[in-house]
Amino acid sequence: MRSRAVIIGTGSALPSRVMTNRDLEALVDTSDEWIRTRTGILERRIASEGENNSDLATRAALNALEMAGVKPDEIDLIIVATLTPDMPMPSVACLVQKNIGAFRAGVLDISVTCSGFIYGLSIADKFIQADRKLKILVIGSEVLSRRVNWQDRTTCVLFGDGAGAAVLAGTREDRGILSTHLHGDGRLWELLAIRGLGTAVPADEEMLSRGWQYIQMQGKDVFKHAVKALEAVTWEAMDAVGWKTDALDMVFCHQANMRILDFVRERLGLSEDKLFINIHKYGNTSAASIPIALDEANRGGRLFAGANVLMMAFGGGFTWGSLAMRW
Ligand code: ACO
Repeated sequence: MRSRAVIIGTGSALPSRVMTNRDLEALVDTSDEWIRTRTGILERRIASEGENNSDLATRAALNALEMAGVKPDEIDLIIVATLTPDMPMPSVACLVQKNIGAFRAGVLDISVTCSGFIYGLSIADKFIQADRKLKILVIGSEVLSRRVNWQDRTTCVLFGDGAGAAVLAGTREDRGILSTHLHGDGRLWELLAIRGLGTAVPADEEMLSRGWQYIQMQGKDVFKHAVKALEAVTWEAMDAVGWKTDALDMVFCHQANMRILDFVRERLGLSEDKLFINIHKYGNTSAASIPIALDEANRGGRLFAGANVLMMAFGGGFTWGSLAMRW
C-alpha cells in the first residue's frame, strides 16, 4: 500500500479579547439581530495590540506538536496558510520556525485565502506520499481584524482572528488523506480583494482614501459563487472516494456564513450533528477556520479512529477545494 498522510496532532490559538455583536452596534449602523440572522455570528475574537499572526500561529503549532508528541526539531516542513502575514518578508512560517526552534524545517507561506488549510494539507500529503518519514506542520492563521475597515458594516461584522494547526506524518495503514481537489478562478478576483499594500498600487493618500488597505467584498456575488463551488467540490470529493452521505462521520466546511453552512448540509442531506459549526463564536477566520474547527472537534472527542472526514472551503481569489480523509 502507498504511503498516506495522517494527522497525528491538532492545535489552535484564539485571542482572549471577545467582540460581541452588541460591541459592533457601537461602531457601525448594525444590529445583533441583522448579524445573527444573516450570518449566524454572535461574537468573534480580536487580536490585542502587539499580538501578531505569528504569535497565534506559534501557539497553535505548539499545541499541535504537544498532542502529536513530536519535538520541533523533528519537523521537516512548516506550511502557513494566511492572507494576513505579520509582514511581506519574512514569511510567517519563518517566524514560527524561529519561535518554536524547528531549525531542520523548510518554511513556506501560501496565499490561498479561506481555502489555504486544505491547500496546505494537500501539499503536505504529496510530500508524505513521496517520503513516508516526513513530519509536516500545517498552520492556518489570520489577523483579519487589521485588514477590516471598522467603518464598513458590510464587512467588519463578518471576520475574526485566530489560528489552527495540524501535524502530519506518514503511514502505510488504510487511513489518512484519501483525496484532495484544488480549484481557483482568478477572473473573479475583484469580487473579494485587498487591492492595496502590495506592489501594484503605491501606498499613498489615494490608496488610503479608496480603502484599498482593507478587505472589500461584493457579498451577494461571493455568496452565489461560494455555494455553487462548494457543492461541486463536495461531490467531486465524494465521487473520488466512492462515499454516499451516510458514509460521512464529520464534515468541516469553511465557516464563512451560517446560510452557506446550511446550504451545504441540505444539499448533502447531512444530519445536524455531522456538520461541525463554530461560526457563532469566531466569525469568519479565513484560513484558520477549518483547523480551529478540527482542533475543537478533535479535543471534544467528536473524531474517532476510522471516522470518514470531509473538508471543503471557498475564498477570495477565487479559490476552493475539498479533502476526504479517514481519521
Ligand atoms: N448591518 C445591517 N445592515 C447591513 C449590514 C450590517 N452589518 N451589512 C449590510 N447591510 C444592509 C445592506 O446595506 C443592505 O441594505 P439595503 O437593502 O438598504 O441596500 C441590506 O443589509 C442587505 O445587504 P446584502 O449585502 O444584500 O446582504 P446579504 O443578505 O447578501 O448578506 C453577507 C451579506 C452576509 C455578506 C452575505 O452576502 C455573505 O455571507 N456573502 C458571502 C461571504 C463569504 O462567503 N465570503 C467567503 C470568503 S471570505 C474570504 O475569502 C476572506
